[in-house]
Amino acid sequence: MPALKEVDDLNESEAAAELARLAREISKHDKNYYQKDAPKISDAAYDALRQRNTAIEARFPDLVLDNSPSHRVGAKPAQRFGKVSHTVPMLSLDNVFNDEDVREFAARVRRFLRWPEDQPLDYTAEPKIDGLSCGIRYEKGRLVQAATRGDGQTGEDVTANVRTIIDVPENLRGSGWPEVLEVRGEVYIPNAQFAAMNEAQAKAGKPVYANPRNAAAGSLRQLDPNISAARPLRFFAYAWGEVSAPFAETQMQAVEKFTTWGFSTNTHMCLCRNADEMIAAYRKIEAERAALGYDIDGVVYKVDRLDLQERLGFVSRSPRWATAHKFPPQQASTILQAIDIQVGRTGALTPVAKLKPVTVGGVVVSNASLHNADEVKRLDVRIGDTVLIQRAGDVIPQVVKVVDKDRANRGPAFDFPTQCPCDLHTDITRDRDEKTGEPGVIVRCSGEFACPFQRIRHLQHFVSRQAFDIEGLGKKQIEAFYHEEIIREPADIFTLEARGIGEMLKQKEGWGETSVANLFAAINERRHISFERLLIALGIRHVGQTTARILASTYLTWGAFHSAMLAAQDEESEARLRLEAIDGIGAIVAGAIVHYFAEPHNEGLVERLIAHITVKDAQPPAHNSPVSGKTVVFTGKLEKMSRDEAKANAARLGAKIAGSVSKNTDILVAGPGAGSKLKKAIALGIKTLDEDEWLALIGD
Ligand code: IVH
Repeated sequence: MPALKEVDDLNESEAAAELARLAREISKHDKNYYQKDAPKISDAAYDALRQRNTAIEARFPDLVLDNSPSHRVGAKPAQRFGKVSHTVPMLSLDNVFNDEDVREFAARVRRFLRWPEDQPLDYTAEPKIDGLSCGIRYEKGRLVQAATRGDGQTGEDVTANVRTIIDVPENLRGSGWPEVLEVRGEVYIPNAQFAAMNEAQAKAGKPVYANPRNAAAGSLRQLDPNISAARPLRFFAYAWGEVSAPFAETQMQAVEKFTTWGFSTNTHMCLCRNADEMIAAYRKIEAERAALGYDIDGVVYKVDRLDLQERLGFVSRSPRWATAHKFPPQQASTILQAIDIQVGRTGALTPVAKLKPVTVGGVVVSNASLHNADEVKRLDVRIGDTVLIQRAGDVIPQVVKVVDKDRANRGPAFDFPTQCPCDLHTDITRDRDEKTGEPGVIVRCSGEFACPFQRIRHLQHFVSRQAFDIEGLGKKQIEAFYHEEIIREPADIFTLEARGIGEMLKQKEGWGETSVANLFAAINERRHISFERLLIALGIRHVGQTTARILASTYLTWGAFHSAMLAAQDEESEARLRLEAIDGIGAIVAGAIVHYFAEPHNEGLVERLIAHITVKDAQPPAHNSPVSGKTVVFTGKLEKMSRDEAKANAARLGAKIAGSVSKNTDILVAGPGAGSKLKKAIALGIKTLDEDEWLALIGD
C-alpha cells in the first residue's frame, strides 16, 4: 500500500476521496466492534483512522460528509484488559439439532458408562443463555477475580466490571462453600434493558448493538467499570471451574447451592429421567422462550450425577456429559414493503420498516426498526428489497441487511423526507449537539405545536402517569379524540363534560354510562394538580421529573414561576440569571424553558389550561434538616412507603434527588434488591443507609 499523504499535503479532491474512504473504513470497524463484537484492528490503529478523519475535516470543513464518523462517537476502549489463565479450561458444548440426536446422545452416554437400560440415569435440562461465559473466583467466600472465557485457556480480567453485576455476590452467603470456588455462568442483558440501552445509544448518535449478546460483551469489556455499572448486565450461575473441595453430588444440588450462596440461577432448569423427558423439556422451554425476557438459543442437557460426569470426561473441547440442543435461528428474510416515518413528541422522525409479515422465532413480525436516517443510508434498504430481519431481544425487531442488493431493477435509494409526513409538510431539521454544535443523527419536524403528530404525542404525554395521570384516558383514546376533534389541546380535556361530549361518547362503541362517568370523575380529580406535575405535563424539552421538582421547590408557586419565565426572555435579566444559577438547571435547560414560554402558541395553550385547573403550591425545602442540600439516591425496594413518596419527603426536607450514583452523591438509600447502584456507591465510598436508617436520619 502506498504511504498515506500527510493531511497538510492533500488537495481538495484528494481530501474528499480520503474522507469517503475513511468513512467506509471506520464504519466497517465500528460494525466489527459493535455488531459483531469482533474488532479486527488494534485500538491505536482505529484511533489513528479517526484522528486522520478529524484532521482532514478541520482543514476542509466544507467536505464533511453527512455520514462522517465524527458525527458518531464510538466508545472504543483505549487499552486492553489484563489476561487470566484458567486453571480449569473453559470448554464449549457439543450441539444436537433434533429429537433423534437427543436420543443418540442419551444412548451414547449409556454406552460409554455401560449403564444398563433398567438403571435410572437422570439429566438436567436448562435454557442455553445467549450471553457470554464468565468465571468468577472466590477465595474464602470473597470475590477475588472474574474472567471472560477468551480462547478457553486464557481470558480477560473483568473483575471490576463483574463486581457491578447485581446477581453476583461480593461475599458468598450461607455456608458450606469450598475455600476456593470458581463459579461459572453466563453474563447477559435482558431484552427490555437491551432495547432501552440501544435507544439511548441511538439518541446519543452512538452505534447501536446488533443484539443483547453483543451488547453484553461490549458492556462487560468496558475499561471503565462505571460504564459497565451503568449497563444492565445480569448473570446466571450454572457451572464451576476450580474448586478446592467437592460441594455437591449432582448438578441440580450444585445449582441449588449456588442459589443459597447468593447467585441467580435459572428457574427453568428441570430434571429429566430419559430422552423423551429431555425432548419434552426442550419443547416446554421453546414455548416459553418469547416470554422469558432474555435471549436463549437452545437447551443444555447435562448428566445429573457428578460422579458420572467425572467418569464421562471430555472429548477434545467439550464434555461427554453435556450437549446443547439448539433452536432454529431467530432470523428470517422477508420483503420490505414500505418505510414509514413516525414522529415523536419532540418531532424526531424515526424510520420504520413495514414488512411482509413473517414468523421469526414464533412471533409474527411486520414492523422493524430502522433507528434513524443514517441507519437507512448505511443499510441502503430500498422498497422491494428482501431483507434479513432478526428479533434482537424484546419486541422491536431489526433489519440486519439487504440480502438481494445485486438484483437487477432494484428501486431507487430511499429518499429520507425533508418534510414532516404530517399534512402540514413542515420542514425538518437535523439536530445539532447542543454542546459541540456538531450535526447529530436525529432529524426533527420543525412544526412543533402545528404538527398533528407532535400534538397527539404531547397530549398523550400530558395525561401520562408522571403528569396528569388521568385514568381512562390512554394513548388510544387521546389519538381517537384528537382525530374526532374532541380534544385538540390540554384545556379541551377539562371542558369535555361542559361541552356535552358525554352524551356523544355514550353512543360510541366501548363507552357506556359508567365508563363515561368514571372518565369525568378522573378528570375532575385532576383539576387540583401539583405545580410539579403541571410542569412535567407541559412537555417542555429537558423538563422531566427531576427538573420539574427543582423548579417547583425553587419558585414555589405557578404564578411566581410563570412571571419569572416571561421576564427571563431578556437574557440579561435578573430572572434569567437566577434561573440559570439554580443547581441542576444550567444554560441549555434554562434556554428550553424560556423558549417554551416565549412561544405565543404555548402561552395561549397554558393560559387556556390554567383557567380550568388549580395549581397547588410547592413546599419550600426545609433548610435546617439533616439532609438539606444533600444529594440523595434511592435504590432497591422500600418497604414502608413507595419510592415516589420517599423521594417527595426527601425533597421536602431540602435534599436533591438524583437518579444515579456519582461522586457528587452524598447518601444512597438502598432497600432489598439494590444492585449496581449500591455497588457503585460502596466503590466510591458514599454513605449508604437502609430504609430504617434513612427514616431515623430524617427523624420520621
Ligand atoms: S454448561 C463444559 N450451561 O454455551 C461446558 N453452558 O456453547 C459448560 N451456555 O461456553 C457449559 N447457557 O457460554 C452451560 N445453561 C448453560 C449455558 C451454557 C449458555 C454457553 C456457555 C458455553 C456455551 C457453549
